[in-house]
Amino acid sequence: MNLLVSKPCLVINSYAKLNLQLAVLCRRPDGYHDLETVFERISLYDKIILKSLPNKKIKIICDYPRVPDNSSNLAYKSAKLLQDEFNLNKGVQIEIIKSIPVGSGMGGGSSNAAAVLTGLNTLWMLKLKQSQLAVFAKQLGSDVPFFIHNTAFGTGTGRGDQIAAIKALSKQRFWHILVVPRIKVSTPLIYKKWDELNNSVRETPRLTTPGYNVKILTSALKKKDLFLVNNTLFNNLEEAAIKLYPCINRVKKKLGELGVKAILMSGSGPSVFGIVSSRKEAVNLSVKLKKEQFWRIFIARTL
Ligand code: C5P
Repeated sequence: MNLLVSKPCLVINSYAKLNLQLAVLCRRPDGYHDLETVFERISLYDKIILKSLPNKKIKIICDYPRVPDNSSNLAYKSAKLLQDEFNLNKGVQIEIIKSIPVGSGMGGGSSNAAAVLTGLNTLWMLKLKQSQLAVFAKQLGSDVPFFIHNTAFGTGTGRGDQIAAIKALSKQRFWHILVVPRIKVSTPLIYKKWDELNNSVRETPRLTTPGYNVKILTSALKKKDLFLVNNTLFNNLEEAAIKLYPCINRVKKKLGELGVKAILMSGSGPSVFGIVSSRKEAVNLSVKLKKEQFWRIFIARTL
């Protein structure tokens, strides 16, 4: 996360993520699912501009109509959480300039929440450590803690909220083509479908998770062998998502036809990414894919 303080406001880049592996283990008694996932932070970002306001006022401004400007916004909840926890009589205006597609499986809302926590730690001079911010992040959503950790690649366990950096990949950088079908996907619905497909209530975790292997993924990424990488990419929400939204499979097929070797849906979808060998390849693909008017196309690299 880049912080740029230019009084009296603070500008933060709020980056997106991809999931290179996502294994759902079981449904928990609290309704959430235990999972194992590998996150990658990418260069696609929203801009968050924080400005101090008097009293406890929290004001959200966003250029994108589907983002709520009220207390249901995760960015609002982040500010409220800190206000309440530290009994602060300080307010903030949170301006969100969106580039990360909303509800796409790339963690835009979660990243914005993390950016507000990090930014307010500076603006309100709270002096909280990363580990303390991570505790607040967990309360806001399963994906929020990853964005608090300053790492390009990390594993997430528990609800996806217990993060460990993958140090072996810290210097690795990859180019991606991102395709986001213009559909609205409900994350809870995807998990419900996963329950249905996996005999409803599996409330004990599997002992082994087929498909999830960070060591093999790490080794394939380090070799930059995209065929090998493709064999280790894994998301077992994909089947549920494709059953509900078949267009996700059309995107995967199209990328395959265009020669992309490593392809996967991110998070609960509907975004699909391809890992490609250069920026040039990503640009060439984006030119071809932009003919599809129901898909939004982006290029991003590891950050
Ligand atoms: O944690 P977050 O609010 O982002 O989760 C959104 C929804 O996704 C939850 O309400 C739940 O239905 C589902 N979810 C889950 N298990 C997880 C993460 C999310 O069931 N580990």
